Amino acid sequence: MLSLPKLGEAQFKQLQRLMQEASGIHLASNKRTLVAGRLMRRLRHFQFTNYDQYLALIAEPAHQRERRLVVDLLTTNETYFFREHPHFEFLGQWLAKQRAPVRLWSAACSSGEEPYSLAMVAAEHLGGEWSVLASDLSQSMLALAERGIYSMEQSRYFPDGWLRRHAQCGVGDMEGRMRIQANLRSRVRFREVNVVRPLPEDLGTFDVIFLRNLLIYFEPAQKQEIVRRIVGQLRVGGLLFIGHAESIHGFDLPLRLAQPSVFERV
Ligand SMILES: C[S@@+](CC[C@H](N)C(=O)[O-])C[C@H]1O[C@@H](n2cnc3c(N)ncnc32)[C@H](O)[C@@H]1O
Repeated sequence: MLSLPKLGEAQFKQLQRLMQEASGIHLASNKRTLVAGRLMRRLRHFQFTNYDQYLALIAEPAHQRERRLVVDLLTTNETYFFREHPHFEFLGQWLAKQRAPVRLWSAACSSGEEPYSLAMVAAEHLGGEWSVLASDLSQSMLALAERGIYSMEQSRYFPDGWLRRHAQCGVGDMEGRMRIQANLRSRVRFREVNVVRPLPEDLGTFDVIFLRNLLIYFEPAQKQEIVRRIVGQLRVGGLLFIGHAESIHGFDLPLRLAQPSVFERV
């Protein structure tokens, strides 16, 4: 019988350091088994029999891509269209009162469901110009997001009539899948942005920023630093949305609570 390679304490520590450096995310020590499970496929791919061989490989400069893949595999990318839907209802009402042009930013966009949900709400509620920036640390997630192709089941939380208006349902080879309409996709720009690093200088300011379900992975000091940086890109009167399970309570930032987990820049 084949025995599974063991991920030892020292090897896990190396992976913790790699994650911390690359994404700022702290892998808790109770995640050791989960981490081993997620990397098992890569060991098999290289036909390695232990984690030391794999760690030696990803330490080599020539294997930067593989190192990025480790970060991708150890990051949670879970997302879905209209996740935490009260946010989108509140946003729609707020957008209807704004003057164009409006800039929105989904700062941890994962596979794209969040920025396309924003785009649909903007298209429904704004008459004039608007655009969405969708960013993430993961290049593979950004590539998926940019294609804008999803299974039909993923449209289950679309408001009535929006599937027909904002997506094309596939036929033939594309049966069972949908693609976000080209007129929406053309207004969404994708870009790699790591929120634990200084933000790109040409990012500009936004009317709306979604920073949801990412803060939960950070320690308080780092979380405050990320939010401070992000709020620096929000115009006065603009809105910051965080996940319902997240908190920025006690941070000294120019924000006022507008609605649970929604803050207005003051
Ligand atoms: C759980 S998903 C959240 C997706 C979406 N915002 C939502 O709420 O459904 C977290 C995303 O954060 C990204 N991420 C992790 N660390 C990051 C960092 N330092 N900078 C930017 N994005 C990061 C991951 O790649 C992942 O796609």
